[in-house]
Amino acid sequence: MDAIFILTGAGISAESGLGTFRDKDGLWTRYDLRRVATPEGFRADPALVHDFYNMRRQNCLEASPNAAHQALARLQRDYPGEVTLVTQNVDDLHERAGAAEVIHMHGELLRALCAACGHRWPAPARMLPEDRCPACDRAATRPDIVWFGEVPYRMDEIVERLARARLFAVIGSSGEVYPAAGFVEEAVSQGARTVEINLEPCGRGNLFGSGLYGPASAVVPSWVEGLLGG
Ligand code: OAD
Repeated sequence: MDAIFILTGAGISAESGLGTFRDKDGLWTRYDLRRVATPEGFRADPALVHDFYNMRRQNCLEASPNAAHQALARLQRDYPGEVTLVTQNVDDLHERAGAAEVIHMHGELLRALCAACGHRWPAPARMLPEDRCPACDRAATRPDIVWFGEVPYRMDEIVERLARARLFAVIGSSGEVYPAAGFVEEAVSQGARTVEINLEPCGRGNLFGSGLYGPASAVVPSWVEGLLGG
C-alpha cells in the first residue's frame, strides 16, 4: 500500500474560525511577526508575546474541528498503509477530530516550554512572564512554539517518512515558510505523486503534479473518499 504523507497549514483550520497568516486580514497583516514570533521579540517584550499566544490559545479552545480535519482522521484510521500527518499548525484540531498521530513541526499552543531546562507541560489558558517552571522553578517559561530563526521539531522523523511516501499532499499552506515549503521538491525528486489542496494555486503550485482547489472542508472529504476507494 502506498505510503501517504500529508502536510497541513493554516488554511485547513480557516473554516473553524482560526485566522491564517498571509491571506487578506491574516495575522501577519495585523501583527509584526518580528515582535511576536521570534526569540528576539520574546526577549524584548515577553508580556506582549504571551498576550499574542494567550489570545490565539483562547481562539483555539473556542474552535471546533471541521470536515477536513475529520476526513484526515478517518484516513489515518481506515487506510491500510502508512499515513503521516505533519502540521505547521499550533492548534489541536487534528487531535480533537480523532487523528491517531500528528507531528506538530511548529509546536503547540497548548504546551508550555521552560527555556532554562527544556521541561514541557500543558500550558495554562493564560501564560505570564513570571510563571515558574514546575521542574526547575525558574521563571523562564515560554509557549512551546517554534519561532522564526528556530529549528522545527522532529525533522529527522519527518525526512524519513517523506522518503517513504509515494503520495504527497499539502493542504491549506501558502508554501512561504521553509523547511516545510521545500518538502514538495523532495517528494517530486523521489518520484512520489504530489497534490496541492488549497483555495487557489499557491506560489509553488506549479511544482505539484495535480491540484484540487476549493475550501478544505469540501475538497478534503471527497479526496479522502477517493483514497479509501469509495
Ligand atoms: P498561510 O497563511 O501562509 O497560508 C494559508 C493558505 O491557506 C493560503 O495559501 C490560503 O489560500 C489557504 N486557505 C485559506 N483558507 C482556506 C480554506 N478554507 N481551504 C483551503 N485552503 C485555504 O499559512 P501557512 O502556510 O500555514 O509559522 O503558514 C506557514 C507558517 O507561517 C505557519 O506555521 C506560521 C506562519 O508564520 C510560524 O509561526 C513559525
